[in-house]
Amino acid sequence: MAEHLSQSELDYPFKLLEYFNGFRVSKVIFSACELGVFDHLLKSQKPLPAAHVAQELGTSVDGMERLLDVLVGVNILEVELIDGKACYSSTDVASLYLAKGSAKSLHDMIIYQSQTIYPLWNNMVDAVREGKNQNEKTFGISPEEIFQAIYRSEEEMLKFMGLMNSTWVLDGQDVVTAFNLSCFKSIVDLGGCSGALARELSKAYPSSIVTVLDLPKVIQIARQHFSEQDDAIVFQEGDFFDGDIPPADLFILARILHDWEENKCLQLLKKIHTCCQPGGGVLLVEALLFENHRGPVMAQIFSLNMLVQTEGKEHPPSQYSNMLSSAGFQNIQVCRTGKSYAQINLSGC
Ligand SMILES: C[S@@+](CC[C@H](N)C(=O)[O-])C[C@H]1O[C@@H](n2cnc3c(N)ncnc32)[C@H](O)[C@@H]1O
Repeated sequence: MAEHLSQSELDYPFKLLEYFNGFRVSKVIFSACELGVFDHLLKSQKPLPAAHVAQELGTSVDGMERLLDVLVGVNILEVELIDGKACYSSTDVASLYLAKGSAKSLHDMIIYQSQTIYPLWNNMVDAVREGKNQNEKTFGISPEEIFQAIYRSEEEMLKFMGLMNSTWVLDGQDVVTAFNLSCFKSIVDLGGCSGALARELSKAYPSSIVTVLDLPKVIQIARQHFSEQDDAIVFQEGDFFDGDIPPADLFILARILHDWEENKCLQLLKKIHTCCQPGGGVLLVEALLFENHRGPVMAQIFSLNMLVQTEGKEHPPSQYSNMLSSAGFQNIQVCRTGKSYAQINLSGC
């Protein structure tokens, strides 16, 4: 990527300019989501002038017009002139992913990026200098207490769970079907949060019993806010470090190991291995780095995010394989499906 960049950018640094202005585009999308622009345009069903949107959403007309214009510039909205007046409407992509009520909405993901990740990334220089998370500087919470920082209020817990949920709207089906898991009749999703991935598993393997284990407060909130009518999944309160792990044929760790430093990952994998029956397995779901340090860029960005927010990092497959072998697992298989989190690792007991 750097080679390509330096050659094509010598005449004029288009790509570089786009990269370092990227935060402004992010901020435009975050602000439009927080103000409810996409929901309002979707609801209206017809193109609207900026003054109308501004009045409905309680903003200045000038500010709204500039915001809408950038969204047109990045092809997220459409504009047309009606009686000489610019009128804005949603594109299909904005309606599908950015409006709150859509089945594929990424609204919760965007709100979390805007209100939690953005302030953390403001302290990136210190994170890189110190080599540790910035929870203390950003939120006043000790760097050792990862989930106390993430769950520092019930509102934050809900936002985080919304973020976790959003990911599986995009990647869930690819993840659960990357390997044929139909031979595993009981599955426990350790740290399964709101249950979104478990629901995808249950849809793909209806004859399997899928249990979500997570911290007690998380399970209570999941039952209260994220459970669905006729939910086929089971919620169970627990602690995968300090409590018992229920028996199962398959244990899932989705975005768990990337939160923790390696000794804790190993401790958890060894504990799971002792609970694993012959023929059973563990499925790791993580954003895998390439071995040669050349990408994928999203996984590299996630790894930097793990630095500012947790004690963990993203790894290439060889590192997960080493951890799994050290914990006693065999027959390790890796599957990349090419999306953010659909890169996984299955291994047998
Ligand atoms: C990064 S989230 C991943 C959530 C989910 N697996 C997913 O991919 O959407 C980490 C999860 O681990 C849970 N967790 C953290 N410490 C835990 C513990 N000691 N026991 C059980 N769950 C824990 C958190 O509550 C959170 O739901």
